[in-house]
Amino acid sequence: MIRVLVLNGPNLNLLGTREPEIYGHTTLAEIEDGLRRRGTELGLTVECLQSNHEGVLIDRLHRRDFDWAIVNAAGLTHTSISLRDALLAVGKPFVEVHLSDPSKREPFRHVNYLHDIAAETIVGRGAAGYTAALELVADRTGDLPEAAGATEALNAPASPGED
Ligand code: DQA
Repeated sequence: MIRVLVLNGPNLNLLGTREPEIYGHTTLAEIEDGLRRRGTELGLTVECLQSNHEGVLIDRLHRRDFDWAIVNAAGLTHTSISLRDALLAVGKPFVEVHLSDPSKREPFRHVNYLHDIAAETIVGRGAAGYTAALELVADRTGDLPEAAGATEALNAPASPGED
């Protein structure tokens, strides 16, 4: 069974109430429950971890006990060479996810230390972006009919929070 580690970085524990006009109304618990359910349908094992601490995320990656990761590093995307180094060191493929599209926001969010090392990046799709990422992993790791169409759906416009 393919093991997928879903990592969420700082402040994403506040999803649902945090700037909902940008990040939507879906809570992190709802996102994680949805991913575990979809994972079961797709035959993937899904483990989720959120932390506000860079080192906790890095330590979790160092365990190397997963096949793919889905990573929303939140603000660390724009600052953390250490998280980039950990992802490179561990050498597992990962999908970078952002609820919003950082490239359309403030200039400091245009700096991205993860984009060029991610297998895929999904932005601006709100909570639905995580499901699309999981379907992409299923698509890449097996021949699963449920995942068909996931790739084309990646760039479909959707409002943040819509899922
Ligand atoms: C985010 C975008 C980041 O710029 C921001 O710091 C976040 C969330 C997103 O999911 O849109 O915390 O990663």
